Amino acid sequence: MLTITVEAPAKLNLTLDVLGRREDGYHEIKMVMQSVSLTDKLTLTSEPGEGIVLSTNLGFLPLDGRNLAASAALRLKEATGADWGRLAIRLEKHIPVCAGTAGGSSDAAAVLRGLNQLLGLGLSREELAKIGAGVGSDVPYCVLGGTALARGRGEEVTPLPPLPHCWVVMVKPAFPVSTPELFAQLDGKKLRCHPDTEGMLEALAAGDLAGVSRRLFNVFEEVLEPRKRERVEELKRQLLHQGALGASMSGTGPTVFGLFDSRERAEEAYGELRPRHRDAFLAETL
Ligand code: C5P
Repeated sequence: MLTITVEAPAKLNLTLDVLGRREDGYHEIKMVMQSVSLTDKLTLTSEPGEGIVLSTNLGFLPLDGRNLAASAALRLKEATGADWGRLAIRLEKHIPVCAGTAGGSSDAAAVLRGLNQLLGLGLSREELAKIGAGVGSDVPYCVLGGTALARGRGEEVTPLPPLPHCWVVMVKPAFPVSTPELFAQLDGKKLRCHPDTEGMLEALAAGDLAGVSRRLFNVFEEVLEPRKRERVEELKRQLLHQGALGASMSGTGPTVFGLFDSRERAEEAYGELRPRHRDAFLAETL
């Protein structure tokens, strides 16, 4: 029996831009991503037998190939012919589900990294990212992690100079969002504003946290239904009022986050938000 434990960090979008619809039905996107210390934990065990058995602390998650962790293992097997006998995946979820913070994609990436190590497959990060692209658009970034620019469908990932260390308060408001629906909303709309991605890259290169914080921007905020958008605006205002240097929504939402250069102020903001939000988190950048 072989076993390994791997961590799967959540991601935040420092910027998210959608440039247009592609022939394959996906959208051309450009986004700056950042890993944070809110993490899921996965234990992978290879033992005699066959098949994949997934278990998790969240009762409502699918445990078959629809779960991205299982899907990633299947893709890796297809791509490499790796034989792990029976694979048990124990998934301990802390990252909220359907939140815009890549929880599922990060679990998939952790399975790829973990199995590569456990079975000594010797695949490079680039090879793992390529396999991950078949699982989901955010998986290649999650294989790499850190601060990075993602382009194309999301699978063209370029590492960037790391964001200066800071504290992050994340809040997932209690309304659902649908990623395909939000992309469809964008198709019928001429966006008023786009993120200053070049400026963001310059701020990162200069290690300028204030400059990064000023440039946080996500085009999906503009296409949220008015009531949801107002809720996101309200949370951003609250975070800024509590001393965040900048605030934005991550991915297709609904998670809203603020960046803080002071641990104390981040703790205070978290303390204010926590009693009224089931999904509020205090984290730091990785
Ligand atoms: O690749 P993934 O399964 O994560 O994408 C989920 C959905 O998001 C896709 O089915 C598609 O509707 C939308 N999407 C898109 N363009 C992208 C990424 C995702 O339209 N670049």
